[in-house]
Amino acid sequence: MDTIPEKVLKKVGELRREIEQHNHNYYVLDNPTITDAAFDQMMRELASLEQEYPELVTPDSPTRRVGGKPREGFVTVRHLAPLLSLGNAFEEGELKDFDRRVRQALPGEKIEYVAELKIDGLAVSLLYENGLLVRGATRGDGEHGEDITPNLRTVRAVPLRLKENIPLLEVRGEVFMPKEAFARLNESRDEAGEQLFANPRNAAAGSLRQLDPGVTASRQLSIFVYALGQAEGVDLPTHSAVLEWQQAQGFKVNPHFRLLPDIDAVLGYCREWQQDRFNLPYATDGVVVKLNSLAQQLRLGATMKSPRWAIAWKYPPEQARTVVRDIIIKVGRTGVLTPTAILSPVRLAGTTVTRATLHNEDMIREKDIRIGDTVLVHKAGDIIPEVLEVIRDARREDEKPFAMPEECPECHMPVVRPGGEVAVRCTNPVCPSRFREGLIHFVSRNAMDIAGLGPAVIALLISSGQVKDAADLYVLKKDELVSLERMGEKSAQNLLQAIEESKKNPLHRLLFALGIRHVGERAAKILAGRFGSMDNIASARLEELVEIPEIGPKIAESVTEFFANRENLKLINKLARLGVNMASSIAGGQSGPRPLEGKTVVLTGGLKNYTRQEAGEIIERLGGRVSSSVSKKTDLVVAGEDPGSKYRRAMELNIKVLDEEGLVALLKDTGYDQRG
Ligand code: IVH
Repeated sequence: MDTIPEKVLKKVGELRREIEQHNHNYYVLDNPTITDAAFDQMMRELASLEQEYPELVTPDSPTRRVGGKPREGFVTVRHLAPLLSLGNAFEEGELKDFDRRVRQALPGEKIEYVAELKIDGLAVSLLYENGLLVRGATRGDGEHGEDITPNLRTVRAVPLRLKENIPLLEVRGEVFMPKEAFARLNESRDEAGEQLFANPRNAAAGSLRQLDPGVTASRQLSIFVYALGQAEGVDLPTHSAVLEWQQAQGFKVNPHFRLLPDIDAVLGYCREWQQDRFNLPYATDGVVVKLNSLAQQLRLGATMKSPRWAIAWKYPPEQARTVVRDIIIKVGRTGVLTPTAILSPVRLAGTTVTRATLHNEDMIREKDIRIGDTVLVHKAGDIIPEVLEVIRDARREDEKPFAMPEECPECHMPVVRPGGEVAVRCTNPVCPSRFREGLIHFVSRNAMDIAGLGPAVIALLISSGQVKDAADLYVLKKDELVSLERMGEKSAQNLLQAIEESKKNPLHRLLFALGIRHVGERAAKILAGRFGSMDNIASARLEELVEIPEIGPKIAESVTEFFANRENLKLINKLARLGVNMASSIAGGQSGPRPLEGKTVVLTGGLKNYTRQEAGEIIERLGGRVSSSVSKKTDLVVAGEDPGSKYRRAMELNIKVLDEEGLVALLKDTGYDQRG
């Protein structure tokens, strides 16, 4: 076996440390310090080195978060010490009773409490041996849980390695799905006619209990840790010290915990968060109150089910009564007709609610919701307004039952409800509503991010016939825009600027913007990172796609189907012709000089400054095509260190050879700086 060059060893170590630091900044501290593109670049570089030197791969490498094949089932494991549950308090008096019990058990002693937000998620246990994550399990019944290690490894806020080399450490916390992610997941499940998750807790549980860790990875889960189980060589006096220590070890700890002198202060904390919690990006369902001193905790002990030193204060469910004024139909970008209730405005969980999704006709029938009904509404996951039930006593019998239309309200083509599905779909592939919604998605913040192109302007552009497909956005002229209603000179200018800027977006944004079914932001990033260019993705075979971790058969099929469609290919070609970037995460647009236009280039040997993938991307950006073998048709060979047989063949065939410096010089000439 060849020895691994010193500089490779060094580079791999550096990359891993840097990547973990950025991971921590992004997922634990919510404070990224580099761009996604720069991060992806580092990941690719590490992955390509690990591919070249597989003996360097370690289980805690950041490239190993997602991996392995789906499993057959879960294995039950026994927790080192049981994970207890908490007693509940629903009224202030119950909190005061708890405090009285604590003080009676510790007469004359100084007492302090820590109040924490109660996160609406799923309790898990993380086990570290010698600083490495070796096992992650669900709480289960408290004594036994399920081993879900591969799934928990995909949660980016879970450190795979601790800062210190602690012999044995068990950490407990709550895995949760942020409100945004929950809303988007349910939205896409709704569109696909799949069963919805009732709340973020169920969504987190459903995502963690996946046999395929790739699915878990796509769900954007996070974790807050809030307790220690077994911990060897760790001696801390208080719960607040535990939280601070956990933070220092790289865990994500909720920043809103507070050390409080007495139960009145705890009540103040609870009142304060009762409304403020709606501004948090994750759902909470109460406050957990814990005695701060660990020695006192030990003396108080626990009952069979829950500790005597802690209690959960539950917020009353946020619900409101209002009237369904109308039920309207919205046609989404995949053609699904979604009934939406128009409500009399009502305050609910921090906002004024005027609409609630009714999901589908089955749900309306089950709940027997009629126009004019008085209903009880709540927000699923503190975010999605939903009708819980009809208040029957308020019925006056002049309410109007609702029926799904038989034609699309937008294009008047017939709708269908395929057998076994709950969703009703418009059958018209060119339904204006689908097109409009698709375009709204195309320009949205996480897609092409074209500011100033709201739904109203889009509707105008479509109805005036100026935009017939997404690519038409890139040929819009200023005077055409100014002629639109309420579009001034200045906003037209800004809009054109934003459209122009969007051409330089990294490939994954465009890929997401295209609205390929099942291709969310994460899948788009994975595909862009893996294939480097739209052409490569378009020509990827199904077997190649399914092989990729996190890309399941559903996504793979949908991708191949999308690129098999001639209309879609036409659109992509048109976008490319108009200068929209079709290459990986490198910014810069396709407008620079292309000295390798039409040339076939072969790479051989190791490059000092670039991975193979990067070098390939650069060549493509300069107009060249990368081929793997040297033939008479080869125009140029780029040879790095120890080039081997391809180099010899190039010499035989008298093909021009460039070394790495030559490639760099070429880049300088074009003024194209790769690492921007
Ligand atoms: S402490 C013995 N702290 O609430 C103490 N639990 O109702 C065990 N939970 O099973 C739990 N946020 O799943 C604790 N900050 C927090 C929490 C929290 C959410 C969950 C946890 C627990 C349940 C008890």
